[in-house]
Amino acid sequence: MKREKICDLLKTEKPIDNILLKGWIRTKRNSKTFFFIEVNDGSCLKNMQIIVDQKTPHYSEIKKLTTGSAVAVWGNLVSSRGGGQKWEVQSTKMDIISLAQETFPLQKKRHTDEYLRTIAHLRPRTNKYGAIFRIRSELAWGVHQFFKEKGFRYIHTPVITGSDCEGAGELFRLTTLNPPIPMTPDGKIDYSKDFFGMESNLTVSGQLSAEMLALALGDVYTFGPTFRAENSNTRRHVAEFWMIEPEMAFCDLNGNMDMGETLIKHLITFVIDNCAEDLALCARFVDKTLMKTLENIVSADFVRIPYRTAIDILLESEQSFSFAVAYGADLQSEHERYLTEIHFKKPVILYDYPKTIKPFYMRLNDDDETVGAMDILVPRIGELIGGSQREERLEMLEKQMAVSDLSSESYWWYLESRRFGTVPHSGFGLGFERLLMLITGVSNIRDVIPFPRTPGNIEF
Ligand code: 4AD
Ligand code: MG
Repeated sequence: MKREKICDLLKTEKPIDNILLKGWIRTKRNSKTFFFIEVNDGSCLKNMQIIVDQKTPHYSEIKKLTTGSAVAVWGNLVSSRGGGQKWEVQSTKMDIISLAQETFPLQKKRHTDEYLRTIAHLRPRTNKYGAIFRIRSELAWGVHQFFKEKGFRYIHTPVITGSDCEGAGELFRLTTLNPPIPMTPDGKIDYSKDFFGMESNLTVSGQLSAEMLALALGDVYTFGPTFRAENSNTRRHVAEFWMIEPEMAFCDLNGNMDMGETLIKHLITFVIDNCAEDLALCARFVDKTLMKTLENIVSADFVRIPYRTAIDILLESEQSFSFAVAYGADLQSEHERYLTEIHFKKPVILYDYPKTIKPFYMRLNDDDETVGAMDILVPRIGELIGGSQREERLEMLEKQMAVSDLSSESYWWYLESRRFGTVPHSGFGLGFERLLMLITGVSNIRDVIPFPRTPGNIEF
């Protein structure tokens, strides 16, 4: 017999006889000759109310059901007599698939996010985290749908690499060497003896590989896990996160900004249209201003200003920041949030950053000082997208690599792409978890990824 899903049953117009559903008990209420249970099967936020009466086989046995137990329920879907729900199931038979122990921690009461992080293996069974992870799933779908409609090719870039795309040195090194570690005569680790014969690490970005594919297939994107050994315990950094990275041939910085803005608006609209129930829960229990924030973003023209103008605004703001504002310094989260939340009250795209604070691959502008970078900042999060037009000119790229102390030998293949049919091209990276924070109103990145990796935390 086929298992029905609650999300489908709730959409039905007519009663249905002889159905089977399976799920976990959320609550149970006893009456004299029968009891009610609320079952959730994860297919949607709503539970199905089940009525089990004395006539049900093994009644006294199944009456011992505890919260968290897994059950199979056979019965008839009927109009609910009580308020609160349209349908309920009059059970004719019930099997306990497994009885949860009495110590099941998710009894009916509200728990703090901090506590739920300590039971990350169970928190998906709460309303809130169930909703967040369903939205996460839909959103991933929406990403593929967006690019498919725009004619992009979905590519897979390596998780294990020998390069450091961002040059920030926040790499998780990968090795199969065991002590005693082989050393070179000059006292360094001898990676020629390691698995790949050279130093290797988990990728911080698929960009360099994506560029190679863009220079063959035109418009491509990659959407996969990336890793950063940043030792920062903030509410918007994790060590393992997912990044959406489109890369477009024959595209300049303006085209890149257009794509970033379009993508963000599309994905927010997609979730509003496809996850109404789960989003409503977030708007009710996570952030009361959520829907207004999202509607503002969708309807706004994002502000576009050069980095220099942003610094001017910050310097004139008379705001007291913990980190000093200066030309040539990177913006801190507080600066980003001031610009997008207080000054402009909408998303802001900053472009043309000083070359000294950006990676080697960004295209040098004619002023010889700035590069064609663009970051998209959004309220509550700060930086959501980081991207650039890429340096497609061989000599310029070589020069910039020398400044960044990168060996042209190890990046020979990247340089070679500039020798054979190089073209202007651009792309960006959008942090998937940060987008989820924006869309759900969740304020800590640890709560939008099922098993967050942060310094000192890899238990689950
Ligand atoms: O600005 P980033 O470092 O850009 C790149 O890696 C480029 N190579 C992408 C490209 O052009 N293809 O990172 C891109 C985005 C950030 O804007 C942010 O949303 C997210 O990735 N991000 C993080 N999200 C969570 N935790 C972290 N530690 C993150 N670091 C970056
Ligand atoms: Mg960045």
